[in-house]
Amino acid sequence: MEQEKTLVLIKPDGVQRGLIGEIIGRFERKGLKLVGLKLLQLPCHKAEELYFPHQGKAFYSYLIQFMTSTPIVAIALQGRNAIELVRLLNGATDPAESEPGSIRGDFSIDVTHNIVHASDSPKNAQRELEVLFDSSELFEYQRIEEPILHRLTT
Ligand code: RTP
Ligand code: MG
Repeated sequence: MEQEKTLVLIKPDGVQRGLIGEIIGRFERKGLKLVGLKLLQLPCHKAEELYFPHQGKAFYSYLIQFMTSTPIVAIALQGRNAIELVRLLNGATDPAESEPGSIRGDFSIDVTHNIVHASDSPKNAQRELEVLFDSSELFEYQRIEEPILHRLTT
């Protein structure tokens, strides 16, 4: 599987509950590479851009209000199969289905206040990364353990 980039957001509830370090630590320990990172309060127009596929749904306006209420953390992660892997680490949206051991399974009990967001496809990952990061805010470097994380192929 190719190297992929994906967007993760720590939502206002994750920041308010002091879970930033815990959440970033889980991605780092898994072997995913942090290539972008910032704390920001999401402006309304960016929340609308991010969530435009959900426009018209019953939860949409509350979701926009929630996501713009207090600061969030935006994280760009890179790694093999990163998009699917990050969604697995985040856990299912429905709190009744999020497995213990996942971020939502361990820390959330509500379908909207569910701590984290992650892109769900390569197309959405690229679109969402562009909403949150300028190209100058995304970095290329090597993690020290990269040669031992993967089976090296020629
Ligand atoms: P995310 O986009 O945040 O990674 O979450 P997801 O793919 O697991 O869920 P999605 O279906 O894309 O929904 C986006 C966010 O909207 C809120 N939500 N509320 N029934 C509801 O009240 C409801 N359903 C979804 C959640 O915050 C969800 O993460
Ligand atoms: Mg989604």
